[in-house]
Amino acid sequence: MIEGGELAERKQFRAIKGTRDIVPPNSALWNRFEEAAREVFESYNFREIRLPIFEPTELFARAVGTDTDMVSKEMYTFLDPPPLDLLQGSPEQTSAAFLSQGTDPVRREAISLRPEGTASVVRAYIEHGMQTKPGDVKWYYVGPMFRRERPQKGRYRQFYQIGAEVLGQSDAPAIDAELIEMLLAFFRRVGLNRTTLYINSIGDRICRPKYVELLRQELRKARDQFGEDSQRRIETNPLRVFDSKLPAEQPAIEKLPHIADHLCAECREQFSKLKGELGLRGIEYEENWRLVRGLDYYTRTTFEVTAAGLGSQNAVCGGGRYDGLVELLGGPPTKGIGFAIGSDRAILSIEESGSLPRLPGLAVFIAWMGEKAYPFAVQIARKLRATGVSVELPAEEMKFKKALGLADKLGARYALILGGDEVASETYTLKRLSDAEQRKLGETDLLEYLESERRS
Ligand code: HAM
Repeated sequence: MIEGGELAERKQFRAIKGTRDIVPPNSALWNRFEEAAREVFESYNFREIRLPIFEPTELFARAVGTDTDMVSKEMYTFLDPPPLDLLQGSPEQTSAAFLSQGTDPVRREAISLRPEGTASVVRAYIEHGMQTKPGDVKWYYVGPMFRRERPQKGRYRQFYQIGAEVLGQSDAPAIDAELIEMLLAFFRRVGLNRTTLYINSIGDRICRPKYVELLRQELRKARDQFGEDSQRRIETNPLRVFDSKLPAEQPAIEKLPHIADHLCAECREQFSKLKGELGLRGIEYEENWRLVRGLDYYTRTTFEVTAAGLGSQNAVCGGGRYDGLVELLGGPPTKGIGFAIGSDRAILSIEESGSLPRLPGLAVFIAWMGEKAYPFAVQIARKLRATGVSVELPAEEMKFKKALGLADKLGARYALILGGDEVASETYTLKRLSDAEQRKLGETDLLEYLESERRS
């Protein structure tokens, strides 16, 4: 009986569909993955930018495009400040509140949880006047993104990306190639080995519209060979027809004109130089004329990396050039290129391949016995932790056997035994749990030994 004699409803909360907890020890793998990205990216002179989780809806609408699935169907959008009844009402009242906001005297802004990071990076580039700074801006970001997609293996509604972007005055293909080199160096570092890099060029403001029109004409002729979704795309965004995985549509898609045959001279030269630059770096790739990417901001170079063991959601990274985007968002003419890695998928692929790194875990369990030993246990735990050793200090005294049993179950590498004998002789007994080897050490030797163990 709780509060006013009413029976409290025993509701069990669960993570919202498409979101999940990353629980230890798996979280250690995630940390290792993100740390490795930071190390590799910093070695290429990229620096981390931390971006807001939400932005004005209009930013994504402008940058990514209102006809894209991401903006038209998948964003989590809300009004700020929310209408009062939004917080208190039923779902029907909530939508009524949204609809009535036109007559609302409070000015509300539509805000969205970020579905991707590039729009925010470009907004920040302009906001901080980065064009006046020397050299190219090379930024990376790490964090969650939100898309209301149908959840399945490798596809979530809150997922994590590690992205990198280069903004500046040059669109030299060497920039594209170095960015791809960095991406693959990172994948190698984390043991993501069975990957394939696909590249394409989707032309620029000059040649792409002509190609898109040609594509539309061809698609209209073959209209009856396509399903409802593709038929709609013929009018809204014909390039997206290439994304179709429907078997029935493939024969007609195969017959469509390839953009490579319709690039202007500059785009053609840029693409051929990119291939040369990749060759110079010993990077293997496959050309994929269907790789158009789903977002409006891309120009010229597009690329994607797929990994083994993931089923249909096998793209672990997508990226490309977006030379007009800074201007589109109100900044000066600027070139840009970047990518985003889907961490959930990349980590899944590493797990499936079994090439997991050794994770640190618990090093020392302190088995202390007796009131006299306790203050020594507290002191030595503090000193060991200060050298970076992971220590578990039981808050209450335990019987020796039970303490060793728990140390074993927790996966500790050592038990540090501290009883009456040890206190009297000012030594510690260190027991290696894998083979029960024991050694008696003074404090200095103990600290030195465990620290060198940790580093090895
Ligand atoms: P994107 O291709 O939409 O590109 O996403 C990049 C990667 O994020 C995908 O290849 C995939 O690994 C991962 N991803 C996307 N959606 C999900 C999901 N629902 N669940 C799990 N993983 C997902 C972009 O976001 C661009 N901003 C990339 C970019 C940066 N282009 C230039 N700069």
